[in-house]
Amino acid sequence: PTIYAITPTHTRHVQKAELVRLTNTFLHVKNFHWILVEDSEYRTPLVTNFLAQSGLRYTHLNTATPKNYKMKENDPHWLKPRGVEQRNLALDWLRENIDIATNSGVVYFADDDNTYSLQLFEEMRFTEKVSVWPVGITGGLKFERPIVGEDGKVKGWYAAWRPQRPFAMDMAGFALNLNLLKKYPNARFDITAKRGYLESSFLTQLVTLNELEPRAELCTKVLVWHTRTEKPKWKEEDAMIAKGQPSDPRVEV
Ligand code: UGA
Ligand code: MN
Repeated sequence: PTIYAITPTHTRHVQKAELVRLTNTFLHVKNFHWILVEDSEYRTPLVTNFLAQSGLRYTHLNTATPKNYKMKENDPHWLKPRGVEQRNLALDWLRENIDIATNSGVVYFADDDNTYSLQLFEEMRFTEKVSVWPVGITGGLKFERPIVGEDGKVKGWYAAWRPQRPFAMDMAGFALNLNLLKKYPNARFDITAKRGYLESSFLTQLVTLNELEPRAELCTKVLVWHTRTEKPKWKEEDAMIAKGQPSDPRVEV
């Protein structure tokens, strides 16, 4: 099966560095197709050129988050849902462009700031419905994970923050079979979902708890980390810009 990784991305100082990190991982994954969706009115030259030289099989899409849902520069990071319209666009692209009769595939939501081991992709590759695994450094804990019973089935969630959520895990903690998108043609992420309920808003449309397929040695291994990249200090650059003397604009960073 092909792994279709869906990545929402937005313009910011660290964007290119993040894309380099992801590419350096994804180039090692066999049978991989990257769907990179810019949160933007248009496809930016930075991302367009980056993808063209990446060496990856990819699809480049864009859709801007509606203004009333868009994060503002100084909003706390959790105030608004992120990457929702972008993931939904990618789901529709897959439904329209990939024929499941001739292609077997697995869909994974790979945010641009996380850290992915190569083993993770082999764990998810054979997913019948939805496979799940632990995510490191998230939810205020060392890790969050599905709780797996003696019978090898998921019983609930090890999480500190709202463990009563139907699927109390991060976006990075699951993958789904491409055929579910055809089976449930209206399944999508809900931009109005309460904080922390985005994953649940989608998964409740596709599976039940006892259908989940635990991976990573029955959810005992961490193979993906919810890393967050520090916002760089840009004070001096801003001062230079104010003086009309920015760093050489021909240098792409
Ligand atoms: C957590 C989860 O890891 C996300 O998958 C989930 O979308 C988010 O919560 C949420 O509840 O909305 P966090 O690490 O705080 O995420 O989110 P970010 O990594 O800042 O954003 C998730 C993705 O959306 C990233 O790939 C990012 O580039 C993209 N994004 C972010 C946009 O496309 N537009 C934005 O304005 C902000
Ligand atoms: Mn993140």
